[in-house]
Amino acid sequence: MSVAVKQKIMETWNQRAEDYDEQFGHGLKSLEEKEAWKEVLKAAVGSENLDILDVGTGTGFLALILSELGHNCTGIDISEKMLNQAKKKAVQNRLPASFHYGDAEQLSFKEGSFDIVINRHLLWTLPHPELAMENWIKVLKPGGKLVIIEGKWMSDSIFLKLKTFVGKCLIALVERKNPWEKYYDKEIRESLPFMGGLEANKTVQLMNSMGLYEVEIMSLDRVIRAQKKVMPPYRKLLYNYERYVVTGKKM
Ligand SMILES: C[S@@+](CC[C@H](N)C(=O)[O-])C[C@H]1O[C@@H](n2cnc3c(N)ncnc32)[C@H](O)[C@@H]1O
Repeated sequence: MSVAVKQKIMETWNQRAEDYDEQFGHGLKSLEEKEAWKEVLKAAVGSENLDILDVGTGTGFLALILSELGHNCTGIDISEKMLNQAKKKAVQNRLPASFHYGDAEQLSFKEGSFDIVINRHLLWTLPHPELAMENWIKVLKPGGKLVIIEGKWMSDSIFLKLKTFVGKCLIALVERKNPWEKYYDKEIRESLPFMGGLEANKTVQLMNSMGLYEVEIMSLDRVIRAQKKVMPPYRKLLYNYERYVVTGKKM
């Protein structure tokens, strides 16, 4: 694996850490959205006091909500600056979640350490997503659950491409931002098998092929509705891609 690629990925997130939560679809924008996430996470994870690992935790989005729900959460990430934001929010909200440096593709936890391994928006940015998933499954206890929250935001549909283009033109005009700016350069983009995201069915197929059972897709509709309520109308034009939760259990 290219160390240079991972280094560049880490630097990208270090640069984005400061305003990551302000962007639509990243940080919480309303109480209604928070409640919607809580409902989804309760359904995906369960309601007991569980040991949960949030891989690629970023600014701690999932780990902090799950901690508020009473779980024992550890978040790992390769970006120290994203982790610093997570730690700051944990202190501000007096939540006991802990955050550490860690590579999602090379976990340093003992086998069978967690009831739940969870992540949001991580698979797309890994050079070796399947190797990473195998690692996540290893650290699950027997009967533990893998929970993946992802999306497929590069669509082949001409209609959706057109909507996205119009939305981006409006962002450029209204917000004076460059909506065409890419997260990664060409070298990194070409190293990421799921750049642009992956469909729910593909995630299901991956989980099944790794021996997980009771693999299920869950809807994020309530979350998406809450997110859209507080978005400027032109932003909604970009928010038309598939987003989902997939869960699967370890034997
Ligand atoms: C799109 S952000 C998602 C953050 C967070 N999960 C959320 O839902 O807001 C992707 C995160 O994955 C982290 N990341 C990328 N590659 C990683 C790796 N190999 N191991 C751990 N974290 C990684 C990045 O530093 C970044 O914080």
